Amino acid sequence: MVDRDAIERCGRLLREAGRVMATTGAGISAESGVPTFRGPDGLWRRYRPEDLATPEAFGANPALVWEWYRWRRARIAEARPNPGHDALSRFERRWPAFELVTQNVDGLHHRAGSTRVIEVHGNIWRTRCARRCGFSIDESPGAATEPVPLDDRGLPVCQCGGMLRPDVTWFGEALDAQAITRAFALAESCEVLLVVGTSSLVYPAAAVPEIALGAGATVIEINVDATPLTSRADVSLRGLAGEILPALEGAV
Ligand code: OAD
Repeated sequence: MVDRDAIERCGRLLREAGRVMATTGAGISAESGVPTFRGPDGLWRRYRPEDLATPEAFGANPALVWEWYRWRRARIAEARPNPGHDALSRFERRWPAFELVTQNVDGLHHRAGSTRVIEVHGNIWRTRCARRCGFSIDESPGAATEPVPLDDRGLPVCQCGGMLRPDVTWFGEALDAQAITRAFALAESCEVLLVVGTSSLVYPAAAVPEIALGAGATVIEINVDATPLTSRADVSLRGLAGEILPALEGAV
């Protein structure tokens, strides 16, 4: 049930703002059928991150890590952007400076038509050299790229002789410095920040709303549940991102 009064209030705040941005997490893709990490059916309820999403796990068992990422790619390939992604893509037209900082690696914002997307945790469709020789390739469905060579275990190998890995941030790894620096700078200077479908637990990405609040921005949280950010947000809209974002768009 969308809270109409709260939506109208947010609509007024957004109408008056010039610099609007959003930060998104797994919850925005939940309605597209992409599992979240910490919800009742979340990935981290079924799998241990230390077995699948650390450089050590990849070093110890690259076949298991690739099996998991290939399974996730297959799920994401079947998914379609939902009305939440679609509404955010249209926000770029409404606010020429609108930018989107996402923790998601699924690429659904791009598929919805968003062009100014900062992917702070990487992209699951990109494969890169684990030794960082500089090789990187887009393996998204339909990408016009040559298939990468595989070793006798079926694992992709780099031109330099190293292993290839998904270009995502794993636990214990630093985020792409340029991406997170840009995300923080946007948070510092925005007037309104929409925080959509994230548990706001994982840093440094969870610092984006904290920076915005510290700099005096209005922070609007959109989430089906309360999070550690809820009590500090200026407005908390409780519900599905795929319903609330189009409603918000209609109120602007
Ligand atoms: P989480 O799984 O931690 O949180 C998803 C959030 O989305 C929760 O707060 C849910 O209540 C909310 N949610 C679920 N469905 C929703 C819907 N339809 N509409 C609105 N909200 C909804 O996912 P993230 O916060 O993205 O990191 O997790 C952050 C990081 O932890 C991920 O990027 C990943 C993970 O470990 C790495 O892989 C580095």
